[in-house]
Amino acid sequence: MLASEIRPGTVKAQLLLGMPLAICRDSQKRTFAFRDICPHRGMPLSYGRFDGDRLECSYHGWQFDMSGRCRHIPALVDGATLQTEKIGVTTYPCAEQDGYIWVYLPDGHEKNPTLPEVPRLPLLSDHYRLFHVSIMLRCSIDDGVVGLVDPAHGAFVHQSLWWRTPKSIHEKAKNFEPIPGGFRMTSHTPSRNSGPYRLLKAYGDQLTTTIDFVLPNLRPELVQCGPYWVSMRTTVTPITEHECRMDFCAAWNCFRWVPFSKTLFRFFARVFLNQDKRIMERQALGLRYKPPLMLLDGADTPAKWYYKLKAAHLAASQSGRPMEHPLQGPVTLRWRT
Ligand code: FES
Ligand SMILES: [Fe+2]
Repeated sequence: MLASEIRPGTVKAQLLLGMPLAICRDSQKRTFAFRDICPHRGMPLSYGRFDGDRLECSYHGWQFDMSGRCRHIPALVDGATLQTEKIGVTTYPCAEQDGYIWVYLPDGHEKNPTLPEVPRLPLLSDHYRLFHVSIMLRCSIDDGVVGLVDPAHGAFVHQSLWWRTPKSIHEKAKNFEPIPGGFRMTSHTPSRNSGPYRLLKAYGDQLTTTIDFVLPNLRPELVQCGPYWVSMRTTVTPITEHECRMDFCAAWNCFRWVPFSKTLFRFFARVFLNQDKRIMERQALGLRYKPPLMLLDGADTPAKWYYKLKAAHLAASQSGRPMEHPLQGPVTLRWRT
């Protein structure tokens, strides 16, 4: 969730992988994640009161500390022998980074889960501006990620005068290489037909962009032009089986001369993501009938890699052996877009 959506001393309900979560922020701005179900009689804890120290269920006032232990049951009479602290609600490791709260849901068999390294948006200088845009998608996580790594829909889905037109289609050859848990479209000069890059070209220096995909759902992109940079990241997060949230964030140290640049960027990012949203939701209508899919070599190869990476990751976590990366070395892909 967006870190800005939760003030100190408040609790918010969220869903992740179909799991209801209550996210709390204490007075020291630290965040905590609970399973959003009271162990007493199932009331979502997020309806309760949070005093910055304990989370109190709204139904019978059971109180939980930030480690999830029950500290108080108002209905117990003096001399009751029930040890409340033996009752607990499941907590999940969480952390704040780049304006988001990241929660880790471990596999059922993981004991004492610790938070894996939280993804970090690359920031190349101390001063920058940052914004976030989120959009809900009615599609499965796999279809969301395949949409995220698809390089060939731009001229049809993101058509507009300032971005692309179908007439601008031309052949592209891009080099890819394996990176841990994903693949990288190596540093290259972005297409001449992509509007926003034209703006950066105003700086005159050599313009390059590097686009990665990293399991489970991250697509970071770094654009550089001399000392100037724009660092973007799109993620698709599974909320339920048939619903995802697409989060886009961007940081940059340029365009100081563009008035209201943050508002403008947010506006364009929203237009762009809404185009993806509309096309993916329409596609989901067809996917309901479970048609076989045809993944072409070239334009659809990144989608094939995604499925292979996911299978390799699952095989590695089940066998305990290191992950066998489906990409053995650098490859060049060609497609028209
Ligand atoms: S349901 Fe939470 S205290 Fe009873
Ligand atoms: Fe798109």
